Amino acid sequence: MTYPIRPIDESEWPAFSQVLHEAFGWTPHPTQTERYKAETEFDRSLAAFDGAQIAGVTSAYSLTMAVPGGMLSVAGVTAVSVLPSHRRRGVLTSLMRRQLADIRDRGESVAALYASEALIYGRFGYGRASTELRFRIAGARSTFVTDAPRDPSLRLRVAKPADVRGELERLFASVVARRPGRYERKPQTWDILLADEEFDQRGAGSLRTVLAEDDHGVRGYALFRIKSSWDGDGISDGTLKLFELEASDPAAYALLWRNVLDRDLVTTVEAERRPVDDPLIALLADQRRLRARWVDELWVRLVEVDRALSARAYSAPVDVVIEVDDDVCPWNARRWRLTADPSGAECKPVDDEPDVTVPVSALGSAYLGDGTLDERLAAGLLREHTPGTVRRLAVAMSWSPKPWAGLVF
Ligand SMILES: CC(C)(COP(=O)(O)OP(=O)(O)OC[C@H]1O[C@@H](n2cnc3c(N)ncnc32)[C@H](O)[C@@H]1OP(=O)(O)O)[C@@H](O)C(=O)NCCC(=O)NCCS
Repeated sequence: MTYPIRPIDESEWPAFSQVLHEAFGWTPHPTQTERYKAETEFDRSLAAFDGAQIAGVTSAYSLTMAVPGGMLSVAGVTAVSVLPSHRRRGVLTSLMRRQLADIRDRGESVAALYASEALIYGRFGYGRASTELRFRIAGARSTFVTDAPRDPSLRLRVAKPADVRGELERLFASVVARRPGRYERKPQTWDILLADEEFDQRGAGSLRTVLAEDDHGVRGYALFRIKSSWDGDGISDGTLKLFELEASDPAAYALLWRNVLDRDLVTTVEAERRPVDDPLIALLADQRRLRARWVDELWVRLVEVDRALSARAYSAPVDVVIEVDDDVCPWNARRWRLTADPSGAECKPVDDEPDVTVPVSALGSAYLGDGTLDERLAAGLLREHTPGTVRRLAVAMSWSPKPWAGLVF
């Protein structure tokens, strides 16, 4: 059975979002629905119809995302949902194919998403491209290595997030390009991040911020909630839930983490979204106090392999013929010569013998600089024809710092 697909207009938003609520089993407050509506790009919001009923949906945000060496227009795929009554009939498959074609028509070469389940998107050519760590630090105290940076010109300022929103936005904008995967935030994104109604708090208290600054201005901030609690003996057992900690330099970074870890009446610090190379790991004298869980974060799809590979920078010279397998976007399925070095890159169609054959998802995984291509070779997931090629490609495509978006879209 086929389900005709087309973009919605604004009047169809209630029916569109209802599919999402049913698929996720989510009951948002009407205010939350309005916030998501404000973020939605209706011309990029596709619905699959069963007669007059919407059976499945997907949408995309027009993101400007950091990639190795620059910023790129990327489709941020979101709101993927199929009604429980219509699942496993190919609705998602048709939506994905249509969406990838639309993304290509718009001139974007890369799509990215957060997956609700890791099993869904590999079949559509997306590869796991970044990892987030979830920290739990019990008995939190900032016992840092003795040479941790300190800058006496820095001071801390406690403020209500809403009162300092402009300062948070400016600081974030100044660091966004530093790490692949981070993306520029629109005002609506900040509205959601700083939202602080009772239903946003989920029992963890109001959103709080502390800024690090000197006489020249703000150098960092932390955004968090504190769930205060006391045991039966009157001993405090509070949990600080950290949402974001950004800084322009290592000394401000260390000072903010010290403040987060040294809070009175807080015994546990939980940070949901941290990069795999978080400098905190190097700062802590006793790393055993930090328990980290490893979760896949962004999934990336190269919609046009040549344009995507030419649009990023490379850490080392490489000249390689890559044969790409891609049955969802057949225009990618051919041989490409990638010639790149730290000063620039070119990717051209060729008929030469390939050095390596890869599924397009492997290039998506490597795109933001995760550096895991050779692990895929070791796992038997790539076919190397010229020995050493994958190692060279893995080094050229890896990047520091490691990719991380840090905020679900
Ligand atoms: C995930 C979801 C969108 C799939 O929609 P669908 O229309 O049932 O998917 P399709 O029928 O097109 O399935 C295509 C293939 O993906 C597989 N698949 C789909 N969802 C899957 C899942 N959650 N886990 C594992 N495999 C899945 C199907 O089995 C099918 O495999 P096949 O090609 O080997 O037969 C739908 O189940 C849903 O709305 N889930 C709840 C919300 C959600 O998690 N959305 C994703 C947000 S990131």
